[in-house]
Amino acid sequence: MKIAVLVSGGGTNLQAIIDSINSGAITNTEIAVVISNNKNAYALERAKNAGIEALCISPKDYDTREQFNEAFLDKLNSYNVDLVVLAGFLVVIPKTMIQQYKNKIINIHPSLIPSFCGTGFYGLKVHEAALERGVKVTGATVHYVDEGTDTGPIILQKAVEIPEGITAKELQQKVMEEAEWKILPQAINMIANK
Ligand code: GAR
Repeated sequence: MKIAVLVSGGGTNLQAIIDSINSGAITNTEIAVVISNNKNAYALERAKNAGIEALCISPKDYDTREQFNEAFLDKLNSYNVDLVVLAGFLVVIPKTMIQQYKNKIINIHPSLIPSFCGTGFYGLKVHEAALERGVKVTGATVHYVDEGTDTGPIILQKAVEIPEGITAKELQQKVMEEAEWKILPQAINMIANK
């Protein structure tokens, strides 16, 4: 199967996918393209270092959101992928793209959905909210993307215990290491081999 990985930042989840393909933990899968909305995303370097086509389509280069959405979708369509993986992609996916890629877009979210998800819950904010609430267990979720925010069918989840006194940054790292970098490659492999 051919996949596109959409990124906005550091790209550690992208790296986990690349490493899993190289180690054989993910089979039947080729990354056709990595697309970022942010030209400074380190994820683009990771893709280039792995010899994968990497490009940036930034909303800043378009007059309107509609024009950006259309350009983005056109570019994505040109790669004919079977699955779109949102790996820390922080742009709201337009309705037209969700309809066109029904059950073909998956996302990694850094909490156990339905906790700490939905509008405004992304990146470090998710972990700050978990610490604020005082939950003792958090984790990560891989789910299909539907028209809501973090509401699509859940594919995999993994729990992570929250130690006393941990900072949000430390918790973010722990959730990535113990959950995200495992279940995102695992979900891709499941879909590629079903
Ligand atoms: C990850 O923790 C991912 O779960 C989160 O952004 C981070 C990206 O890190 N995604 C969301 O919050 C989506 N709502 P990465 O660029 O190193 O993979």
